[in-house]
Amino acid sequence: MGNRLAGFIIFRKGIVMEECNKPVGVFDSGVGGISVLRELVKQMPEEDYIYLGDSIHAPYGTKPLDEVRKLTISNIQFLLGKGAKSVVVACNTATSAAVAVLRKMYPDIPLVGIEPAIKPAVLYKSNSRIVVMATPMTLRQEKFQNLMHQYEDRADIVPLPCPGLMEFVERGILDGSELEKYLTELLCTVNHKKIDSIVLGCTHYPFVKTAIQKVAGSGVLIFDGGEGTAREMKRRLSEAGLLNKNKNTGQVQFINSRNTKEEIELCEFLLGYV
Ligand code: DGL
Repeated sequence: MGNRLAGFIIFRKGIVMEECNKPVGVFDSGVGGISVLRELVKQMPEEDYIYLGDSIHAPYGTKPLDEVRKLTISNIQFLLGKGAKSVVVACNTATSAAVAVLRKMYPDIPLVGIEPAIKPAVLYKSNSRIVVMATPMTLRQEKFQNLMHQYEDRADIVPLPCPGLMEFVERGILDGSELEKYLTELLCTVNHKKIDSIVLGCTHYPFVKTAIQKVAGSGVLIFDGGEGTAREMKRRLSEAGLLNKNKNTGQVQFINSRNTKEEIELCEFLLGYV
């Protein structure tokens, strides 16, 4: 890596690369953050992206806070070492565990985390009953508790920990009877006949949205934070003068700590999955 000078990276070989042409780094504990990556690509197709999934250590959501914080920090350092000009923490769990520390460590880097999209669900219908599906860690953290308290006088917000759900996506299972059985048992615990909306507070869950909709019923509106997170990164890059000026379509590079051909194929499949 070379020196940073007035928006340019000067590599030792003398090649000068404009800071804005560097890739956007995207991180998740596994393949879930690809649901955010596809929104980023939709909104900023000219950017290059490096997507890092830490599938070998997944799930994060059932691990101790300290461990998730350490893993997240070292993965973000890896992305910055690869030359990322900005970072999206496309994992609700990693965001709640480490984003505050990361902001202190890297005050000059545009860094955007993701959090459960409670606000749009509250605005959608007054006094509604909103179920927030997320990992046990996300729901336990102060960040989520504060977010929930902010809106609890305007809606009945029901946190629903979903241990085991991200594993379906990690295995590439996006539909079928095993998944539906899991979801039926899970949603029964929150009286799913009386839900107005569901917030997907884990980036893996948009990939099983169809199955969730089937079990919850067609009248339930489902929200996720991917689009808003991508919009925020676009705003931050624009503000910092870091939007890629290239008019061509950018590239996506997948890196996964599991480092197998099958894992990278799953990543590519999920990026194209609507
Ligand atoms: N994709 C992650 C999230 O958004 C969580 C999955 C995990 O437990 O590692 O919370």
